[in-house]
Amino acid sequence: MHSHRSPHHVAQWVDPRTLCEEVLLPLETSPQGEARLLLTGLHACGDLSVALLRHFSSCPEVVALASVGCCYMKLSDPGGYPLSQWVAALPGYELSYRLREGACHALEEYAERLQKAGPGLRTHCYRAALETVIRHVQPKLRRPGVQGIPRVHELKIEEYVQRGLQRVGLDPQLPLNLAALQAHQAQENRVVAFFSLALLLAPLVETLILLDRLLFLQEQGEGGLQQGPRARGAGSWGSSFGSHISSL
Ligand SMILES: C[S@@+](CC[C@H](N)C(=O)[O-])C[C@H]1O[C@@H](n2cnc3c(N)ncnc32)[C@H](O)[C@@H]1O
Repeated sequence: MHSHRSPHHVAQWVDPRTLCEEVLLPLETSPQGEARLLLTGLHACGDLSVALLRHFSSCPEVVALASVGCCYMKLSDPGGYPLSQWVAALPGYELSYRLREGACHALEEYAERLQKAGPGLRTHCYRAALETVIRHVQPKLRRPGVQGIPRVHELKIEEYVQRGLQRVGLDPQLPLNLAALQAHQAQENRVVAFFSLALLLAPLVETLILLDRLLFLQEQGEGGLQQGPRARGAGSWGSSFGSHISSL
């Protein structure tokens, strides 16, 4: 008979270098030596996915791992990618911020937007214009998170920029160069073309990141993944938005 145990919640930052004795085992109430843990991460962004992999490979109590990664641009460099010695030895293995950020996007979702050819395509051009304003005002602030601004397509570019400045903690009342903003807006089609080309590379980049993770586990001695009587299973899937799923 299985006894019922209520879930045990702990809100805590998980450092990839933390030992499982400190982070995982205190959560487990099984008698010592009998713990069998499944690690799951839903949209475990950046280094959190790496922490799960490291715990899976170093902690014998963790018998399975199911991880859906995201936000590859937040991976530490070095430390988050590459993880495997094999990929680290490849010439030109580096992935720029732009490529890692692109790998998080869903091709299919953008393809739908392209087919509609509506004002929803404006977003990236507006965001790019906002970035130029941010860099003009605060050159050291690079790609700050703006989060979704509701109904972007209904806003004029200057209204979007004002809201964006506020979101990143800058003065929304800054005098704006309207002519420059409109010149940016006139480039919308070029931004769409650039973004489409970048997205074509997304599955390739994500596959490289996921294969690197698989190779890392194999190098850690997890070669028998999903096999054998003492099976340990690991699954790692591609970015949060569920589209270009690659299964290891
Ligand atoms: C993309 S969100 C996913 C949230 C939720 N699971 C979902 O699917 O909507 C990633 C979350 O992981 C948290 N996070 C990222 N790195 C972490 C770490 N090292 N330790 C703990 N939480 C972390 C972030 O603060 C954020 O809340």
